[in-house]
Amino acid sequence: MISDQAKKEIDIWVAKYPTGRQSSAVMEALKIVQAENGGSLTNDLIKAVADYLDMPRINAQEVATFYENYNHKPVGKHVIRFCHNISCMLNGADDLISYLETKLGVKTGEARKDGLVSVKKVECLGACVGAPMCQIGDKYFENLTEQRIDEILDGLK
Ligand code: FES
Repeated sequence: MISDQAKKEIDIWVAKYPTGRQSSAVMEALKIVQAENGGSLTNDLIKAVADYLDMPRINAQEVATFYENYNHKPVGKHVIRFCHNISCMLNGADDLISYLETKLGVKTGEARKDGLVSVKKVECLGACVGAPMCQIGDKYFENLTEQRIDEILDGLK
């Protein structure tokens, strides 16, 4: 279920921890397996990660369901992680998320039919000074407006 390539990548993280503490690599392991699975995790994949790290399955499940980094439904090629926490909310995040949903024809938490994009509401991403903001991949987009969202969407291929 976990590819040899993914196991190699996970082993790099396991090697960073003392012997017997391989479960400390669970967050990176889940991230690696999620990326290999098109951006989301199934329960079977979470169990496979737990088994590979020789840790209780419930502990891997707890990590995978606690953090917003992990998706449990299919996602688009680009996941727009839109902050809706206090600073972003006070600066218009809810209206911009509605704008985004209308523009893309997709509801938050769903992937668009063509698989290009999905929208996810997330808690504070630590860029409150640039509120309202979102994250796509490793990049932050701050001080968002409808016009700026249009420009960002035009750049997604
Ligand atoms: S509240 Fe949105 S980045 Fe902090």
